[in-house]
Amino acid sequence: KRVAILISGGGSNMVSLVESMTGDHPARPCLVLSNDANAGGLKKAAAAGVPTAVVDHRPFKGDRAAFEAELVKPILDAGADIVCLAGFMRVLTGGFVSQFQGRMLNIHPSLLPKYKGLNTHARALEAGDAEHGCTVHEVTPALDDGPILGQARIPVLADDTPDTLAARVLGYEHRLYPAVLRRFAMGDKTPVLLG
Ligand code: GRF
Repeated sequence: KRVAILISGGGSNMVSLVESMTGDHPARPCLVLSNDANAGGLKKAAAAGVPTAVVDHRPFKGDRAAFEAELVKPILDAGADIVCLAGFMRVLTGGFVSQFQGRMLNIHPSLLPKYKGLNTHARALEAGDAEHGCTVHEVTPALDDGPILGQARIPVLADDTPDTLAARVLGYEHRLYPAVLRRFAMGDKTPVLLG
């Protein structure tokens, strides 16, 4: 299986995914694609020998369809079987998602269905939740929705701040996403549950 990974920033999840696809793993990375030419993850991907591409969203302003018509090209050219969103910060329309329905994954830093959208760690602290975590799900047209393929659950500590919580969750993302991708690439959709 050929995996395209979409990023917008540092790409730490992308690195974890790329490093996991070795040996008898049924998948290999075929592309790392960013909407931002300055994304730190692009250098990390190149250093790992993974082809990269950039489709800057800014020239398209609010025309999502025009942006996505360009964004899809390198993914198709790379022959991707699976698309992993990993810290990709652009909302994708149903038109784009439907081209990859059932083979597009995303990682979200909350225990979905709680806290869809942004600022998830601050919202969990604000709510006084005893637990928090991250979720890998199949991408559907609805934002941060779709069948759950994995979750990592961690305790919220009394002295947690959004930053300390985010850092601890990120460490679990780096374990959860590769575990889910490995199963998914083998056709196994049994959820991975950590913590
Ligand atoms: C992190 O906040 C992570 O929780 C979310 O995307 C952000 C950047 O991740 N999934 P990465 O380091 O670019 O993978």
